[in-house]
Amino acid sequence: MTASPTFVQQLSPELVSTMGTVIAESGRVVVITGAGVSAESGLRTYRGAGGLWTEEGMSAMTMATAAYFFRHPQESWEWYLKRRIEARRASPNRAHHAVAGLSDALGDRFTLITQNIDRLHHRSGMPLGRQVEIHGHHEGMRCAGECIGVEPIPQRFDAWAEGDSLTDADKQLLTCSRCDDLMRPHVLWFDEFYDEAHYAIRTAHGAAAGASVCITAGTSGGVPIAERLATIAVRAGATLIDVNPADNPLRRLALDRGGHARDGSASDILPELAAFVRKAVTQ
Ligand code: OAD
Repeated sequence: MTASPTFVQQLSPELVSTMGTVIAESGRVVVITGAGVSAESGLRTYRGAGGLWTEEGMSAMTMATAAYFFRHPQESWEWYLKRRIEARRASPNRAHHAVAGLSDALGDRFTLITQNIDRLHHRSGMPLGRQVEIHGHHEGMRCAGECIGVEPIPQRFDAWAEGDSLTDADKQLLTCSRCDDLMRPHVLWFDEFYDEAHYAIRTAHGAAAGASVCITAGTSGGVPIAERLATIAVRAGATLIDVNPADNPLRRLALDRGGHARDGSASDILPELAAFVRKAVTQ
């Protein structure tokens, strides 16, 4: 039986050569990840069958908004605390480790921009200093009145269990120690804007504009940020590679702009890509 070709064998020789040269010389690599990268860690994606936003009764446009939070802070917090515990119980998979490996190999020439709030990239060894958490993360909260910066979620919530409800003591823990306003999850909501202070949007734009290679993995393009950043990268001359088992706008952008799209799971493909880059860097 003939072994199926690896990802790298499926790249055109021109692309392998371009990427190899770019990376071995001084090129920068940006990886943009979405929920599909954590799917094989057992975390649900947002869209598609079984997705968080597709499940019955759950509408992104109502739940994941500041307007909902201010009307129903308890329900909003309970939803995020449940997601946080699910993420904490999950382990990083081969895709997360591959991204951390790319970062190790490339050092300052590497930036991860992740839409995921689950912190699995960080737990796989990816330094926070080389990643932009463009939608925030599960481990932080901040004053809803913006009087203080991001603080860790109090330890008590590490023992949060499915079906728990906030007690009065819990609500006190989720009250700003300075101004007595509500504390809110450190996540970007649909009725809010990307900024530099909380979501490092300028840093993300800069990284995309300076990339020689841009890899998008596990994102549907359901929110425009991934496509916007990938477009900045290709317009500045980067080679775009999309990794996803399903068709999506990033795949079409990559194919339109002479890049490459790989139909498959991030945990299969990113390790091969990371091995290729590591080799290119050490050659
Ligand atoms: P989505 O749920 O919209 O898309 C997940 C993508 O992952 C889909 O394109 C799947 O085909 C793909 N996928 C599934 N399994 C995969 C695997 N094993 N390997 C690779 N890809 C796989 O998630 P995102 O695009 O991340 O924002 O969603 C973007 C944002 O929308 C999220 O950050 C969240 C959500 O609303 C906020 O909450 C602000």
